[in-house]
Amino acid sequence: MKLDEIILKRQSCRSYDTKPAAKEDILKCLEAARLAPSACNSQPWKFTVVTEPATKAKLASLLQIVGGNKFADAAPVLVAVSEDECPKLMPGVLQKWSCKHFAHGDIGIAVAHFTLKAAEMGLATCIMGTFEDKDVKELLNIPEGDTVRVVIALGYPADGSVREKNRKKLDEIVRFID
Ligand SMILES: Cc1cc2nc3c(=O)[nH]c(=O)nc-3n(C[C@H](O)[C@H](O)[C@H](O)COP(=O)(O)O)c2cc1C
Repeated sequence: MKLDEIILKRQSCRSYDTKPAAKEDILKCLEAARLAPSACNSQPWKFTVVTEPATKAKLASLLQIVGGNKFADAAPVLVAVSEDECPKLMPGVLQKWSCKHFAHGDIGIAVAHFTLKAAEMGLATCIMGTFEDKDVKELLNIPEGDTVRVVIALGYPADGSVREKNRKKLDEIVRFID
């Protein structure tokens, strides 16, 4: 599949089939994330992959604090993506801008790699951001100083149809200075 097709195919899936995702496919998504670029190659991310049913059910419940994300229960895999407490950048380089600012973007890129790789393989994802960081960290035994940025649901879509993208037009978001 061409990259353009994968980009169009990747969409937030909120209804999952019961079919489990193969571990080798989960690993391919993680490998794509591992290869993402980051400021000074700091790689400020950790991925906690949850498939064990009881822990997954508890994590899914933590994602529902504002009433949404009920679909997360049915996803066969939930992946918590956390940011390291203080990503190590090249000594003496860029420190004054605070490494955390770069780490936000770095994690976004890694999550994009993960979700696009999943889409290429016919797997569906949904990135979720509504949860209490401390509750998720406690459940998954993630170090206190780290920050869970998003949880990704991963699995096969119950319905494989591709929706049209609802996005701003290019001329609303782009300026050329030429
Ligand atoms: C950081 C982030 C947090 C998100 N949190 C949620 C969420 O908690 N629940 C949800 O259903 N979708 C969530 N989304 C998905 C967005 O709503 C979705 O990406 C956007 O509406 C565009 O739709 P698409 O992903 O289908 O193209 C999140 C996306 C991002 C990038």
